[in-house]
Amino acid sequence: MILLTGGAGYIGSHMLFELLTANYEVVVLDNLCNSNMTAINRVQQMTGKACHFVEGDIRDAGCLTDLFNQYAIDAVLHFAGLKSVGESVAQPLRYFDNNITGSLVLLKAMQSAQVKRIVFSSSATVYGDPAELPITESTPTSMPTNPYGYTKLAVEQMMMQLVDSDPSWSVAALRYFNPVGAHSSGQIGEDPKGIPNNLLPYIAQVAVGRLQQLSVFGADYNTPDGTGVRDYIHVVDLVKGHLAALTYITANLGYHIWNLGTGEGYSVLDMVRAFEKANNIDIPYKLEPRRAGDIAACYADPNKAIAELNWQAELGLEQMMADTWHWQRTNPHGYS
Ligand code: NAD
Ligand code: UD1
Repeated sequence: MILLTGGAGYIGSHMLFELLTANYEVVVLDNLCNSNMTAINRVQQMTGKACHFVEGDIRDAGCLTDLFNQYAIDAVLHFAGLKSVGESVAQPLRYFDNNITGSLVLLKAMQSAQVKRIVFSSSATVYGDPAELPITESTPTSMPTNPYGYTKLAVEQMMMQLVDSDPSWSVAALRYFNPVGAHSSGQIGEDPKGIPNNLLPYIAQVAVGRLQQLSVFGADYNTPDGTGVRDYIHVVDLVKGHLAALTYITANLGYHIWNLGTGEGYSVLDMVRAFEKANNIDIPYKLEPRRAGDIAACYADPNKAIAELNWQAELGLEQMMADTWHWQRTNPHGYS
């Protein structure tokens, strides 16, 4: 049985789909602070399979003790966390408590229950402004420029030291590049609260008429067209990488880090054009000054995951754009 924390969220709900499809038994733990039970219900309908659901908080030690007593958990896929960079700057203590304390309480409950296998949702943000491109797993991490990023680095370092002290743990830290897209059914997808901060949800809401035009943050970077370059990875590829990582750490103890990216960098204007072309829709935009804290370019060297996990992203830009639009068009107001 797999414990999936944050399984009602954007990436977690796609993970739940893959797990149920692969016949895993799953218990989801989520406090629904940034998600909707509809996502879970839809995944169960899509797969024709049921999961267990516990509405609760990863910081609630009593809840976790009960959960580990009730279910025979073999491994934890840990997605639960707050993820807004801007919000973390405004409310750092809330982010430290939710993401760092929450992970610590979870790890302690795992240790008590003798469950020592965990896959953690980390982020390429731990590399800061990288000195070299593409980014490999041995590219040095640096002090993140915002509290959200700090929580990812802190949890990684906590788990690394835990494995040093007790080598019977097996831990995977998966450093996501930029997850986008949605399941091809259009049934589940990203449903940000308020005005989206991230590029693709913003473009999708312009396309559906909820927002007027895209602001392109910075056209004077040292990149081919001057706009920021990122490594966008389809969420379905991303969650498949977790299954591969879970298989790997089941056979290999220790602390493992993998980049989950495609290895391709695309600029903001590449993304606008790709969305327009795939969906035959104009996306009005205007060039604006740089956004504080942004870097020029960030893309992965995915070769470690290819070699060790036998996993590679397969879905290209066109699929990312078509699936984003299918989800947004059929759910113009998300799950609400
Ligand atoms: P999301 O907000 O859609 O999902 C997170 C889920 O965790 C939500 O369902 C939320 O209700 C739940 N949650 C939050 N705090 C909780 C708590 N204390 N107890 C129980 N449940 C809690 O976010 P997502 O995009 O699906 O991201 C999943 C994970 O991946 C997060 O850890 C995030 O930091 C990480 N990540 C995301 C991205 C991205 O671009 N989306 C990039 C890198 C890393
Ligand atoms: C951001 C976070 C990162 C987090 C990731 C996924 C920062 C510094 N980093 O990454 O920690 O893991 O989101 O949640 O915030 N852009 C526009 N207009 C927009 C939105 C974005 O031009 O309205 C540009 C950005 O300047 C950037 C690119 O699009 O060049 C991607 O931005 P975004 O989707 O926010 O992701 P990141 O900034 O890479």
